[in-house]
Amino acid sequence: MPEAILEIRDLKVSFRTFSGRVQAVDIQSLAVLPQEILGLVGETGSGKSVTASTVLRLLPERKAIVEGGPVLFKGQDLLAKTEAEMRKIRGREIAMIFQDPMSSLNPVFTVGEPLTRIIAIHQGVSLKEARERALAALGRVRLPNPDKILGSYPHELSGGMRQRVMIGMALSSNPDLLFADEPTTALDVTIQAQILRLIDDLRHEIKASIVFITHNLGVIAKVSDRVAVMYAGNVIEVGPTRDIFHRPAHPYTGLLLKAIPRLGETRDKLPVIEGAVPVIRRPETGCYFHPRCPRRDDACREARPVLAPIGPGHYAACGKPA
Ligand SMILES: Nc1ncnc2c1ncn2[C@@H]1O[C@H](COP(=O)(O)OP(=O)(O)O)[C@@H](O)[C@H]1O
Ligand SMILES: [Mg+2]
Repeated sequence: MPEAILEIRDLKVSFRTFSGRVQAVDIQSLAVLPQEILGLVGETGSGKSVTASTVLRLLPERKAIVEGGPVLFKGQDLLAKTEAEMRKIRGREIAMIFQDPMSSLNPVFTVGEPLTRIIAIHQGVSLKEARERALAALGRVRLPNPDKILGSYPHELSGGMRQRVMIGMALSSNPDLLFADEPTTALDVTIQAQILRLIDDLRHEIKASIVFITHNLGVIAKVSDRVAVMYAGNVIEVGPTRDIFHRPAHPYTGLLLKAIPRLGETRDKLPVIEGAVPVIRRPETGCYFHPRCPRRDDACREARPVLAPIGPGHYAACGKPA
């Protein structure tokens, strides 16, 4: 296996809340390989966004408790970096795009202002040169009339166009790693397909690794090279996309596959999987999934399974894999 660009080991993240400490992430291991698209999938509340925020060190400092690690990015532990060091990495070497581009674009400024400013700061060029690069960035995400778009206000653009602007902005610094957190969830199905096609197209140009976060396994079937499935904060199965879809080893992955909405159907919740979201309750002992698992037996109540090899590059944390 090629050396990972990002490698997470034994990472635990919890939050101090009024009702006590809530565990959000408990990952034994997760790697992102160079120039791959990794789909990070799981129900709402399974810890996907917290994982990305931990890597980028964007968690609320007083509320979040990060334990374990390391979180190695190109061999260096991000958990050991100072805020000043992180500021150099964030937005340059590691970029992030979010579900709702409206919330990241300030409605009182034209699209061009933050875009040009960020490029000028991150790439150390004049505003004039930054504007040229902004135009190029918009062209790269296949936006027609980049000049006109730079002068538009966010509300004048469609949701799909705004997301293209955000992708262009995120890629303008040529990052090595891009987190895309539910980037198509707020878009309708047709636009969603266009954005996925764009990401698939761009991967050959940008040479970045992309972690594509989604609660819908169906969304990443076509674009991802590998899929990592999260449950209750842990990665419980990871493998080549083909194997995850055709030979899921963990019962939870099997249920996620059954829950993929059919074309044209929109669902917020996964219908077949019952239980509490967004706070996923964990049993005291055994496999976190055993209370909801159709395949459980007594052993599943006792020991917590660790990721074990199922096939080439395919791992599952289950005592009774398929
Ligand atoms: N700022 C926070 N304070 C308290 N709990 C949080 C906070 N952010 C996330 N959580 C909890 O962490 C868990 C994982 O959340 P998240 O990573 O956002 O899930 P996902 O992105 O998979 O939907 C959830 O149970 C959520 O309630
Ligand atoms: Mg999320």
